Amino acid sequence: MEGNHTLSVFARACLVVILLTIGVSVVGAQSGGEGESGALRNPLNARGGADPWLTYYDGYYYLATTTWASEWQMRRSPTLAGLKTAEPQRIYFETEPSRCCNFWAPEFHLLDGPDGPRWYFYYTAGNPTGNYDNQRSYVLESAGTDPLGPYTFKGRLMEPGRADWMIDGSVMMLNGQLYYLYSAFGPRQSVYIAPMSNPWTLSAPGVLITEPEYGWESFGSFVNEGPVALQRDDRTFLIFSASSCATGEYKLGMLTYLGGDPLAPASWEKHPEPVFSPSPENGVYGPGHNGFFRSPDGTEDWIVYHAVDFPEGACDGRRTTRVQRVNWHADGTPDFGVPVATDEVIPAPSGDTGSDPLRASSDPLPEVSAPPVSRFRSYSSERAYLRHAGFTIRADFNIALLADSQFIMQPGLADPEAVSIESVNFPGFYLRHQNNALILAADDGSAGYAAEATWWIRPGAADSEWISFEAYNRPGYYIGRQFGVTALVAITDSTPEVARADATFLEVR
Ligand code: AHR
Repeated sequence: MEGNHTLSVFARACLVVILLTIGVSVVGAQSGGEGESGALRNPLNARGGADPWLTYYDGYYYLATTTWASEWQMRRSPTLAGLKTAEPQRIYFETEPSRCCNFWAPEFHLLDGPDGPRWYFYYTAGNPTGNYDNQRSYVLESAGTDPLGPYTFKGRLMEPGRADWMIDGSVMMLNGQLYYLYSAFGPRQSVYIAPMSNPWTLSAPGVLITEPEYGWESFGSFVNEGPVALQRDDRTFLIFSASSCATGEYKLGMLTYLGGDPLAPASWEKHPEPVFSPSPENGVYGPGHNGFFRSPDGTEDWIVYHAVDFPEGACDGRRTTRVQRVNWHADGTPDFGVPVATDEVIPAPSGDTGSDPLRASSDPLPEVSAPPVSRFRSYSSERAYLRHAGFTIRADFNIALLADSQFIMQPGLADPEAVSIESVNFPGFYLRHQNNALILAADDGSAGYAAEATWWIRPGAADSEWISFEAYNRPGYYIGRQFGVTALVAITDSTPEVARADATFLEVR
């Protein structure tokens, strides 16, 4: 079994490389094909599609999603369907620790800056504490009018005199005044509005305009977040996400602007029912944290949102990006309908003549199967599994969030014949050693990172039917335990059985 097992992992890694190579060439061949009208199916990505922001500008669609890392990437395509295969381009990477981590909720808006129109890229970020207590709102500014940048850091958005937790920032122009919409805590996590004196400065404290009060806003916890404006024919609506993002009951609510001072809560009327909810019949759960964009010819409104395919929901990298058209009721209010199923082929936006590069003519849409998910059980204790916690790696029992112990064996970043171990719920984060410590860290694209995040699968040090992970760039050093913590340890012929057992794992699917 060990031989087969080792070979199967090795073969899988090589097979993935081969398939990826073939896949890219086939897609490359098809992407220039005629294809049909640009009809497409959701989702636009297989993982890592949370909190999407999508816009159409000057002949291209642009898409960014939460990375939960210290960088921003953007995809660009002349067609909506083409975003599925567009190469992600890194547009920003943070090196300042105080605002380094947990990048969430990107939005980029073309606004008038001191030197003319510029893209202002709003986002949420934290710091290296490994928790989310320090999430704050920040903004980048583009050098010109290209959404791909380059961008420079412009500043932190905060209320005068407050330095509190503030996430999911968005901007809205109303009655000639720019406003900042965001989620922060009053008694509950609520949505606030504040005036802006320029695209990077709040000119007065925020005012709470919706807090979670109905049952549909309290699944998992009381939450209102992800505010975004939808404006049409002099009407303004504020759409927000409600309930915990970690549940399948995450959904959208709506405020209608009644006129008057937007900073007066009485100027906003809350719809008592959600306006966009999970659809078990369509297999769509936790639809939320949305944005809006217009079709290329400007005649249609579209919604971009994230969701999952399983009822329990998730607030991690398993959320994927979905799009569908917004219709309008006769009374001028938006009709979001129901989240479409992923096997439903939807027509492309008006004026989009592209084709879905993953779909040639009548070929059935390929099943983009998610890569296999692995867990690694410790030989030392059959109930302990490798997991990440606070971005450190350890062997643990009773793991509250299963996804923290789930990994995907990818082709080695330093050598595709080896493997790299990617987190399921933190895509782009791999298991790496650093000064003999084992941590989960974002791939920074460097050769040094790749070398320390690449592992050889070897026969188990305690039992050759199991496996051990030898460091690619530290021969003889393995994932094990030292002084009671998971660490990179030397395994030699004289290593005692206990230490061998701590360096031996069983891959469980
Ligand atoms: O997806 C990360 C964060 O989780 C989003 O910014 C927020 O809307 C949700 O709470």
